[in-house]
Amino acid sequence: MTTRAIIKGVGHYLPARVVPNSEFEATLETTDEWIKARSGIERRHFAADGETTSQMAAHAARKALDMAGVDAAQVDAIVLATSTPDLTFPSAATMVQAELGMKNGFAFDVQAVCAGFVYALANANALIVSQQAKRVLVIGAETFSRIMDWTDRGTCVLFGDGAGAVLLEAGTGDGTKADRGILATDLNSDGTYKDLLYVDGGVNDQNSGKLRMEGKEVFRHAVEKLAATAHKAMEKAGVETRDVDWVVPHQANLRIIKATATKMGLPLENVVVTVQDHGNTSAASIPLALSVGVERGQIKQGDMVVTEAIGGGLAWGSVVLRW
Ligand code: UT7
Repeated sequence: MTTRAIIKGVGHYLPARVVPNSEFEATLETTDEWIKARSGIERRHFAADGETTSQMAAHAARKALDMAGVDAAQVDAIVLATSTPDLTFPSAATMVQAELGMKNGFAFDVQAVCAGFVYALANANALIVSQQAKRVLVIGAETFSRIMDWTDRGTCVLFGDGAGAVLLEAGTGDGTKADRGILATDLNSDGTYKDLLYVDGGVNDQNSGKLRMEGKEVFRHAVEKLAATAHKAMEKAGVETRDVDWVVPHQANLRIIKATATKMGLPLENVVVTVQDHGNTSAASIPLALSVGVERGQIKQGDMVVTEAIGGGLAWGSVVLRW
């Protein structure tokens, strides 16, 4: 018998304010047409003044707990992927723990930028498989609107705010790809690419900074690395292309999503796409897409799901799971 980390609930939260591409036309030399054509993005949500990453994360977490029928007191750990925590410390995860009224368990943040949720899922899976936890809330939550340079049209039109969460629970399987739960993970990073995507502030200059990106270069790495990591995770799981029901990619750019699906040998009909409505929400994008995919009736129990993401670091990875 093999211990498997099975997704029992999923949920998401989006801030109320929806910002269409056209809103940027007043302040930047840009157009709705350019943004749509180059990225696939049509709108994004921005957090209200005072609305924080941990608050959005807690909303999403409550929805995942509700779907699973699990009380916060039954959760052993919270793993929260974010690059935009409320404070430098303590972790946003411990703030969510307090918000949910949890006196038990432990909570920590994972910082792997846009690959954060994949990293968090892999870590939560390890906690469950090594029997350190039975139930783990895995959350991706971001307020990237707080680290935008509103004069840089190459970045500020691309990102959005939001949160998504899943509740993982220990179960058992036969150790085959027929099992429900996480079947394999693949994580990678290469710190020599730091200058392609980073925030130009931090504790050293007492300024939280603004996002800087060499978009074209990141695009090139994404197309090359995403299909490769997905294939590696699929190989570890013994999963072939024909077994895959849904690819749930990081939602940065529709052109990257399409190119990766093509490289994986899958049509766009097998891909959950939400980038048009959310923009790039970094670590929140995959759990948001999982939640929306379930809401739309796309992802159903028993489906084979492949997630893949890349972001600052560079850091990238993939998780293969049966829903
Ligand atoms: O989540 C982490 C991972 N991040 C990503 O995956 C992002 C990867 N990169 C991308 O998605 C794309 O590179 C972008 C959407 C950022 C840009 O698309 P692109 O096709 O690579 O365009 P580009 O950067 O080569 O820019 C083409 C032109 C440039 O003008 P010139 O030099 O050709 O005159 C830009 O200045 O488009 C210009 N441009 C814009 N024009 C109108 C850049 N941003 C804008 C804009 N509106 N917002």
